[in-house]
Amino acid sequence: MAHHLQILSENGNSLSEEYPDLKDFCTQEPFALVRTESRVELRQLDGDRACLYVDFLSGPLGYRRLHGGGAGQAVVKAVCSRSRSTPQVIDATAGMGRDAFVLATQGCHVLMFERNPVVRILLADGLERAYRDPEIGSMLRENLVLSPLCSIMEVTEEKCCDTVYLDPMFPVRKSSALVKKDMRIFHQIVGIDEDSNMLLEQALRLAKCRVAVKRPKGAPFLGGISTPNCVETKSHRFDLYHP
Ligand SMILES: C[S@@+](CC[C@H](N)C(=O)[O-])C[C@H]1O[C@@H](n2cnc3c(N)ncnc32)[C@H](O)[C@@H]1O
Repeated sequence: MAHHLQILSENGNSLSEEYPDLKDFCTQEPFALVRTESRVELRQLDGDRACLYVDFLSGPLGYRRLHGGGAGQAVVKAVCSRSRSTPQVIDATAGMGRDAFVLATQGCHVLMFERNPVVRILLADGLERAYRDPEIGSMLRENLVLSPLCSIMEVTEEKCCDTVYLDPMFPVRKSSALVKKDMRIFHQIVGIDEDSNMLLEQALRLAKCRVAVKRPKGAPFLGGISTPNCVETKSHRFDLYHP
């Protein structure tokens, strides 16, 4: 059964009219997008009652900024070539903006694209809050920007950035205890990206230096296009293509 996404203020008033893009957004389980005094969050109304929001300032991303591996992190190694340590990056599948944030804190100028309207609202809200932070707000305003376009498929200018980063959705084992509750609801909202093969072709048109594609370890190459170059972690592989 399909459920219309509810859009509410914290005291339960409908805010549907303020979010026309979500008018027809349906999910298999009931969810509400709730605007509280401090943030916008997606709440699962049944089951785990998990809650999803973007937080660049505290939580795992705040910790990672202060204590993560800096330039040694796999995503940074995958995206930044030695000759250009702070490239202009397009993150074509921004999602909750975690990878893009890591890249931005390492000095990359990241332009994010996200097409799912719920995820876009969560991302824009997290970004707005982070822009106001006295410590990292001005760096983020410079380095981490959400494109008004939803997809790189709409970009016509070729060779407009150094690197394009792709991290399309991959099917998850729903029952796996290893998949955190918030990520399970993220997968319910976004589904599987069936058309990600086309993204690689377009990414190769837009990138001057490289395209980096994140895949789960053991997954086939995106679009069946193989490359011998990759950066590996315990659970993932970043395949590197040179246009
Ligand atoms: C696995 S998530 C990305 C997670 C992200 N790397 C992070 O660190 O939070 C994939 C995201 O890409 C988005 N997406 C997939 N194909 C897209 C496309 N063609 N254009 C824009 N966004 C796309 C999906 O809506 C989803 O939010």
